[in-house]
Amino acid sequence: MTSVTSLFAPVEAELSALSANLKKLVGARHPILYAAAEHLFEAQGKGLRPAIVLLIAQATVPPGQGISARHRRLAEITEMIHTASLVHDDVIDTADIRRGVDTVNSLFGNRVAVLAGDYLFAQSSWYLANLDNLEVVKLLSKVITDLAEGEIRQSLTQFDTSLSIEDYLDKSFYKTASLMSGSAKAAAVLSGVEPELAEQLYEYGRHFGIAFQIVDDLLDFTSSTEALGKPAGSDLRQGNLTAPVLFALRSKPQLEPLIERQFAQPGDLQQALGLIEDSNGLALTKDLAAKHARSAVDCLAGLPPSVSRQALIDLTEYVLNRLY
Ligand code: IPE
Ligand code: IPE
Ligand code: MG
Ligand code: MG
Repeated sequence: MTSVTSLFAPVEAELSALSANLKKLVGARHPILYAAAEHLFEAQGKGLRPAIVLLIAQATVPPGQGISARHRRLAEITEMIHTASLVHDDVIDTADIRRGVDTVNSLFGNRVAVLAGDYLFAQSSWYLANLDNLEVVKLLSKVITDLAEGEIRQSLTQFDTSLSIEDYLDKSFYKTASLMSGSAKAAAVLSGVEPELAEQLYEYGRHFGIAFQIVDDLLDFTSSTEALGKPAGSDLRQGNLTAPVLFALRSKPQLEPLIERQFAQPGDLQQALGLIEDSNGLALTKDLAAKHARSAVDCLAGLPPSVSRQALIDLTEYVLNRLY
């Protein structure tokens, strides 16, 4: 995996082994299922989640010990769960591009994409069980249910202008932060840290994940499909009311009827985008992400100073300034 940031340097060797290993772990018997499941691994994402797992592993192992084989497997499982969630998310969002390549649904159709996502979730559960650590199994199996909960909540609240920021943050926890917090804590559990520190690292992952999703939602408004490698500008059109819209609604009540009628009249969507741009919605969204990034840093106080701990701190800054 080529790093998107030099902050991954302390775990660079582990990350480059990860991509090759992931393809081996897919192991589907049927060629179509293999091709569909492997497709997104091939394109490679940023590798943020496995990097966090490996950095926490390195920051928590007893002195003189390195990252263990079980930590490496946990990093792979985490990326596998994430990739499975993307395969399903692209079916739900009818997206045709992801990581700069055609989505699984656009190449193989929805039926194969749903099966390929299920297959990856099941395969990750198998490797999870084989870690032989009940606490880690509980943490990550909860994440898999949370991902479904997040997608359902999002589907049921499309075009719902009564959605509160709190509802949005809850949904973002389920969709995104649950995996980051669960896998961060699991890495610490595998190192045998005290429960209190494991809990602080869970909180690091939670704040980090929420900040990450808020910035993702901001980029959907401010970036392009080309830069993101996935469709830009689609959240509002599909009725996913994210932080920029929810904040803009407070000062631009004219937005409400446009959303409520689902942009049915010509020019509605353009007008809504203009109102959001003219509002303080984008700035307030950035502030909210920055607040969670700062809280994430505070959660690292219990870790002894190390290059890995510093990388975990610096990653919160990277998340706020990332371009894709
Ligand atoms: C995309 O996550 C899904 C969200 C939680 C917003 P990433 O942006 O980490 O996706 P990849 O793995 O780099 O493609
Ligand atoms: C995050 O939500 C996706 C998952 C956690 C599966 P988005 O719907 O915003 O993700 P993108 O923008 O498609 O990557
Ligand atoms: Mg999506
Ligand atoms: Mg998005």
